[in-house]
Amino acid sequence: METQPTKQRISTRIGNVAESATLAIDAKAKALKSQGVDVVGFGAGEPDFPTPDRIAEAAAKACLDPKNHRYTPTAGLPELRHAIAAKTKRDSGLDAQASQVLVTNGGKHAIFNTFATLVDEGDEVLIPSPYWTTYPEAVKLAGGIPIEVPTTLEHGFKVRISDLDKYLSPRTKLFVHVSPSNPTGAVYDLNQSLELANWLVDHDLWVMADEIYEHLVYDDNKSWSLPVIEPRLADKAVIVNGVAKTYAMTGWRVGWMVGPEDVISAATNLQSQSTSNVSNVAQRAAVEALEGPLDDVANMKAAFGHRRTLIHKMLNEIPGIECPLPEGAFYAYASLNGLLNRNYGGEVPTTTSRLAEIILDQARVAIVPGEAFGTPGYARFSYALGQEDISKGIGRIGDLVAKSKHH
Ligand SMILES: Cc1ncc(COP(=O)(O)O)c(C=O)c1O
Repeated sequence: METQPTKQRISTRIGNVAESATLAIDAKAKALKSQGVDVVGFGAGEPDFPTPDRIAEAAAKACLDPKNHRYTPTAGLPELRHAIAAKTKRDSGLDAQASQVLVTNGGKHAIFNTFATLVDEGDEVLIPSPYWTTYPEAVKLAGGIPIEVPTTLEHGFKVRISDLDKYLSPRTKLFVHVSPSNPTGAVYDLNQSLELANWLVDHDLWVMADEIYEHLVYDDNKSWSLPVIEPRLADKAVIVNGVAKTYAMTGWRVGWMVGPEDVISAATNLQSQSTSNVSNVAQRAAVEALEGPLDDVANMKAAFGHRRTLIHKMLNEIPGIECPLPEGAFYAYASLNGLLNRNYGGEVPTTTSRLAEIILDQARVAIVPGEAFGTPGYARFSYALGQEDISKGIGRIGDLVAKSKHH
């Protein structure tokens, strides 16, 4: 009998997908906590506030209404698509019709759909680094090639046109823009945003603009929407957004894409063959979120603002840590290079991955090492936790560093 070649159990495509490092760290910290260990977690990418009552109440009501018990249109409930178009006009300034909206299972799903719809095998996608871990993985799943464009702490982690020029190739199709940024908290100002938008138009590129942190900006910073400040870009721009960060609704899983009609209609076909409509109960909650006032996010922003000042100050007080002031979102991104190659109770880390494990084991503090964002030597600290916990957690890292010895 002829022997059959052995087949891989897991496909190459999926076998190559990296686990989400941020979710993994968060899971480890939560597991330790559930065993009664007093861990301070800076890993989570979610607001620590509850979803506002008015939103949860709309969902409770929706549960009891039989019309929500059935399949609904793949692209989303008409009320929600209208509410998203109106909200996009209000917050981003973009004139969009409801037909230009696809409701997705969270912002992550909108990102996945966008790459799957726009990227062909071998197309290159420019992603400034440090980057949010999902972008390159989702590009690869779509058959594209993620091209990392390095940014530096000295330039506020913002990509420069001279760097983009270096990484541009005939295969470049799309640029990923996120401002405020996860993981760096960087926010592009109007001039920087215009420069970027012009460069994209000049090179006939597409942009995926991730606006999920648009409301979390501090001081004079503002989230500028690229297709609005440069309307010539609108025909090649997809805006990605969702209710997760603005309304403390990470668990509800409602996001969306807004883009040219042909792109939205193609992405809707894809979604019709994969996940279909998003849970109607969650969609009804999202309608309530979007049609209601923005005062809850204003309160959250005020709290994040105090935490930002505290964490920035405390981190920079630790010798060996350098942290720029975050301009938006709820992340501080710090260089920990000065903490490597020291002796922590017999352990001498040479990488931030190892250092993060030591900090979790010895100081009971969870942080996400820069390796997860394409920049070893750094770490992300989410400040979506109370000021007491911030003081306790950063204080513990300070104590650990003070006790460490030069190697
Ligand atoms: C930059 C960015 N975009 C999109 C998302 C997706 O959020 P969700 O899928 O929870 O809506 C996140 C979540 O961490 C994010 O940080």
